[in-house]
Amino acid sequence: MTEAAVANPVEPAMSEREEGNHVVYTFQNKTFRLDKRKARERLEGKKVINGLRSAELNVLPLKYHEAYRIYKQMKANHWEPDVIDMTKDCTLWNSNKLSPKERWIIEMGVGYFSAAEGIVGDSVLHVIEDNLTAAELKHASLRQIAEESIHMDSLLHIIGSLNIDLDEVTAKFQDIPSIKRKNEFITRQMPELKMGIDLTVTANKQKFAKAIFGITQVMEGTQFYALFAMLLSLHRQNKMTGIGQMFQYTLRDESNHIALGRYILQELINENPDLWTAEFKQELFDFMREGVTLEKEFVLDCLPEDIVGMSQKDFLEYVDYNADRRLTSLGLPAQSDVKNNPFLWLDEVIFLKKEKNFFETRVTEYQTSGSVKNTNEDDLI
Ligand SMILES: [Fe+2]
Ligand SMILES: [Fe+2]
Repeated sequence: MTEAAVANPVEPAMSEREEGNHVVYTFQNKTFRLDKRKARERLEGKKVINGLRSAELNVLPLKYHEAYRIYKQMKANHWEPDVIDMTKDCTLWNSNKLSPKERWIIEMGVGYFSAAEGIVGDSVLHVIEDNLTAAELKHASLRQIAEESIHMDSLLHIIGSLNIDLDEVTAKFQDIPSIKRKNEFITRQMPELKMGIDLTVTANKQKFAKAIFGITQVMEGTQFYALFAMLLSLHRQNKMTGIGQMFQYTLRDESNHIALGRYILQELINENPDLWTAEFKQELFDFMREGVTLEKEFVLDCLPEDIVGMSQKDFLEYVDYNADRRLTSLGLPAQSDVKNNPFLWLDEVIFLKKEKNFFETRVTEYQTSGSVKNTNEDDLI
């Protein structure tokens, strides 16, 4: 038994002692008996899925430390679209100095992402977050949903600043077959998962795992990157720098979303090894391959022929390169023989090194004061 009395006469005395599984606090005329065994049970009851559910979103006792670390990293990277100066973009957009093919890339970027960000936000909310039971995983997912809203807001900032016709943007999303196919491919299994399925059944656990894989590794991790690279190629040529800056921040956020999705998947598999069968691994591999095929079709729509500073071959290879990174990070085989990143310069953007002359804008200084530079490069891919 331990006895710790506070001697300060100004402060009321408080004592603490242990009694078996309890710790007893006495404070003036009050006594609190806290059950340590219950706290341990609560920790043990925490699971990615099928864990103890409680009415409160209390991350304590913390079990999934990596999710909390990613949450803090996401929070440190907070940004606001409407502080990005679009003056130079507007001047260029309204001049004849942008080629029709360059304008097409911008329009495809706005058209695709304005809907895609919403698909991700909705899926993370209703499919991933709803089915998770551990509070710190839900907590990090909720931060991701907030960031998807920021990304949607950035698209509105672009549309409003450039005075792009909203009907045209919407029509682009609805009428371009490669965009429709990409989005339908990701969302086709979501309705069932949104209804709430019995996640004690192995086949349903696999559906849930596939949805996480589809949203975070195939869509965000593979199908977003080629268009990011096109928009940032323009930025690199000092064209549409406000848009480039926003996509630079977005890309940094997406790298955290990919890391979070991978972590949740890994923990899900660790706790539910029954789902990780050879057949299911093959299913995920095939799913990624289909995603790659659709993405290459989309790349060729965005960039129908090589233009200054952009070659189709590089972007197609970049799709394979990213797909293989996502697959191998989960212990799955690569689906291509592309080994090298065709856009090494893009690493400078992703890792946000202090390259003040590389961009005119001050990207690296936009982190909040509590922010530290991301140290785990795997998280920044
Ligand atoms: Fe996003
Ligand atoms: Fe995202």
